[in-house]
Amino acid sequence: MTVSLEQLRRCHVAVDLGAARTRVYVKGVGLVVDQPSVAAVNIRNGALIAVGEFAEQMTGRTPDYIRVMRPVSGGTVVDIDMAQRMLRHLLGEKLRRQLRRKPRLRAAACTPHEADPLAQRATVETLVGLGARRVELVDTLIAAAVGCGLPVEQPTATMIMMCGAATTQVAVLSLGSIVTAARIPVGGEAVDHAVIQHLRHQHELMLPSQSVRPLQIALSENGLTLQGPSTTEIHGRDVATGLARSVRVDTAAVRDAIHTPLTAVLDGIGKILRDCPPDLVADLADRGIMMVGGSALLPGLDQMLRDATGMPVLIAERPDVCAVLGLGEMLEGNISSMVLSPLTA
Ligand SMILES: Nc1ncnc2c1ncn2[C@@H]1O[C@H](COP(=O)(O)OP(=O)(O)OP(=O)(O)O)[C@@H](O)[C@H]1O
Ligand SMILES: [Mg+2]
Repeated sequence: MTVSLEQLRRCHVAVDLGAARTRVYVKGVGLVVDQPSVAAVNIRNGALIAVGEFAEQMTGRTPDYIRVMRPVSGGTVVDIDMAQRMLRHLLGEKLRRQLRRKPRLRAAACTPHEADPLAQRATVETLVGLGARRVELVDTLIAAAVGCGLPVEQPTATMIMMCGAATTQVAVLSLGSIVTAARIPVGGEAVDHAVIQHLRHQHELMLPSQSVRPLQIALSENGLTLQGPSTTEIHGRDVATGLARSVRVDTAAVRDAIHTPLTAVLDGIGKILRDCPPDLVADLADRGIMMVGGSALLPGLDQMLRDATGMPVLIAERPDVCAVLGLGEMLEGNISSMVLSPLTA
């Protein structure tokens, strides 16, 4: 099945169900939802207690009978029922009423590159359960490339690197199609995990999940690549005694810990460049790599890529929402000529 721009133009709503965040774009309105893909449920009676930001704040702080769930994992909907309930609440009554008025609601959604048929089916079923009569699936790499304004339909190569929570996807695009692409199962979650493991092993400190981001921001002063002598203070819980404790952490050591998962990403990029026809590699040397996705904001990741590839590296203006904004552009009919043949659908 192939999606045409014409079919996408007839869609009313675009959805990006990510491992970390859910985004919804409504045609003629804009981005209406950008919230964590999290739901908190009372397991005694099955009632939904909170979704989005509120539910995320509950992580690790709930009594036994409340469970914080993530219905999307690794870029795939793993709990269709919960994903539908979460989306219903994130949309809110007013928007849902607005969408119900459409006689034949059509939805567009982006799926990871080379998502398997089961994963595609799960996305479609989630949206059908919310009232969509038809669901068009678009490769997230193409949607993001459109969303960050890359000239995808031209006969020159562009390289996009989508740094998500669960995966990093890299592709070379030309004439609106993917020439070569790779999906590496390493993303922001793996980076957070590396930081948590480092503190556990080196400092015997358990870090609350909410403290990982401030630590990464502490690194931003001199990025991932420069080796500064600075230290930063971190509060957590002692692994052995269980008591609250704070330690001074050497930021250079944390940087090294983060490097380990990122080497898989660098290998993936190397493979893409080797698989790419030489004419296109020459274009890429000029145009460089465009980084999109939330983890593109990881301090110093762009410099690390520059050092590893010797190519120019740019971060999109709004990297985290590029994919859904790209779908939005297609819905609004702002894209005139694009060969959309190899879209997954
Ligand atoms: N300022 C930041 N610095 C470092 N990492 C960040 C920052 N902002 C977001 N992230 C990371 O970006 C990730 C979320 O990215 P994104 O919103 O693209 O994920 P997603 O689309 O839900 O995931 P996926 O596409 O893999 O399903 C999270 O892992 C988060 O830790
Ligand atoms: Mg995503």
